[in-house]
Amino acid sequence: MSTLVAVTLQINGVRHDIEIQPWRTLLEVLRETLGMTGTKRSCGEGQCGTCTVLIDGQAVNSCMYLAIEAQGKAIATIEGPPEGDAALQQIQRSFVAKGAVQCGFCTPGMVVATQALLSHNPDPCEDEIREALVGHLCRCTGYVQIVEAIQDAASQLANKGGE
Ligand code: FES
Ligand code: FES
Repeated sequence: MSTLVAVTLQINGVRHDIEIQPWRTLLEVLRETLGMTGTKRSCGEGQCGTCTVLIDGQAVNSCMYLAIEAQGKAIATIEGPPEGDAALQQIQRSFVAKGAVQCGFCTPGMVVATQALLSHNPDPCEDEIREALVGHLCRCTGYVQIVEAIQDAASQLANKGGE
């Protein structure tokens, strides 16, 4: 017999009232309970970064985070808010434009980590970008294109901010 607990999660600005087993991770709840499969599962043990989401603006591995612990916090995923998010969309465009997406499995985590980086450092140098990507594994691109994509996103967002 499994015990269910009532949990309220605020995800991309939308409230979700659900009942879950208290030991389920945020990643499991996002993907399996809520059908939000943009956040990917790979290692399941905090090593790869594919499951990254933002909690109160900080990038976290959702495979290592209990869903009940996320109550009362603002969760943001790669799906973004229903009304759209200009920065998130620009980062996605830059990843495509710079060839930073190959198989795409690491991409949601990379994009969300970029969102966190640019929100507190709109003009990061290459070292700061690489530092922000620590813990994000990509088997395909060799990271050069990913760094270029983040530089491009920062530049495009700065241009838009100055319009
Ligand atoms: S699936 Fe969470 S860090 Fe790899
Ligand atoms: S694009 Fe394939 S793992 Fe990164």
